[in-house]
Amino acid sequence: MKRNIHVVGTGTIGEPLIGLLTTYREELGIDELTFHKRTATPLDQPKIKDLLNRGAKLCVDGPAREEFKAMDLEVSYGVEEAVEKCAVVIDCTPMGNQMKETLYSKFDDGSRLFVAQGSEFGFGKPYARGINDDTLVHGEDKYVQIVSCNTHNIGAILQNIAFEPHGEDNLIRGRFLCIRRANDISQAGKFIPAPEVGKHGDPEFGTHHARDAYHLYKTKDLELDLFSSAMKVNTQYMHILHYDLDLRRATDKETIMEQVLGNDRIAITDQMNSGVVFSFGRDHGHYGRILNQTVFNVPSLHISRDGKSVSGYCFTPQDGNSLLSSAAVAIWHIYPDEVARRLACFAPCFFSRV
Ligand SMILES: NC(=O)c1ccc[n+]([C@@H]2O[C@H](COP(=O)([O-])OP(=O)(O)OC[C@H]3O[C@@H](n4cnc5c(N)ncnc54)[C@H](OP(=O)(O)O)[C@@H]3O)[C@@H](O)[C@H]2O)c1
Repeated sequence: MKRNIHVVGTGTIGEPLIGLLTTYREELGIDELTFHKRTATPLDQPKIKDLLNRGAKLCVDGPAREEFKAMDLEVSYGVEEAVEKCAVVIDCTPMGNQMKETLYSKFDDGSRLFVAQGSEFGFGKPYARGINDDTLVHGEDKYVQIVSCNTHNIGAILQNIAFEPHGEDNLIRGRFLCIRRANDISQAGKFIPAPEVGKHGDPEFGTHHARDAYHLYKTKDLELDLFSSAMKVNTQYMHILHYDLDLRRATDKETIMEQVLGNDRIAITDQMNSGVVFSFGRDHGHYGRILNQTVFNVPSLHISRDGKSVSGYCFTPQDGNSLLSSAAVAIWHIYPDEVARRLACFAPCFFSRV
């Protein structure tokens, strides 16, 4: 089998992922990068043309083939043909679970890895780079769900304030408020006129963010007391996460700063304005993204007098953390012993300070 990666969907996640994987195709050791675009619409023609110019191969089924060709977009393969030829499918649609039933299960012969994104709870083992890599079992884990961008952020905070260097039994409970952008900058719809609070639809965890973080850590045999709330604000800039952790053992600012500065997936910032942090990604990142899992705001860090309650804010850098985990798990499947060496090419997309 060729070391092909097949990406499904060209939306907020799919488009930059195809861009990232084509830019670093040689360093990552990918033979061919194929992608599936379902709908042929002239509005999407320029972005598909650019992805083809970058070396990605378009895969389309049925009558849409002719529609794409009429828009001067070369179709290289049918969808099933591309899945057949690839080592990894990365589904970047909100339909991953459905596609698992209707398509991926047909090609599930043990040789391929199927990956889906944040909304597809139950698709497979939840995964975030740097959090639960040690739970992935080569040859056994054939379906993996990349957790959402906010869940990556929650994971990074738990890992670097509660657990390291204190130990994995150190968290009493974690409370999170996800302050979310109304829509993605690439989307024209769903904007809201004013801040909007979210329901606590999950009786145990509040919203899916804490539930997903719980299941991420459950892969490590940890069952955490987590609760999250969410609200949307009328901006297209980045999500902000407020965290509030109760710990068994006392910590201090020096310990926390040493931990976050020592983790190359975390950037720190003294900037208080999310627009400035967002703009940094636009100016210095890849497709406007930096790949850090969180941008940790230093001035908002608060530690109680007894050192056992820690709260503050951090910024969720777009969806770069989901892109990193998607690429990382795909490379793990193809080159299980070379993940760190292959991913070193992403170094320009990481920042220690914003
Ligand atoms: N947006 C974020 O910031 C973010 C962050 C982390 C994770 N995620 C996750 O990423 C996933 C995708 O979200 P998104 O925001 O990228 O969505 P999006 O911008 O709405 O794009 C969805 C894409 O999926 C394609 N698609 C939908 N149904 C399809 C089907 N049945 N077959 C083939 N293609 C299909 C659409 O293709 P056509 O346009 O051709 O119809 C479109 O390209 C979700 O699981 C989401 O939770 C999103």
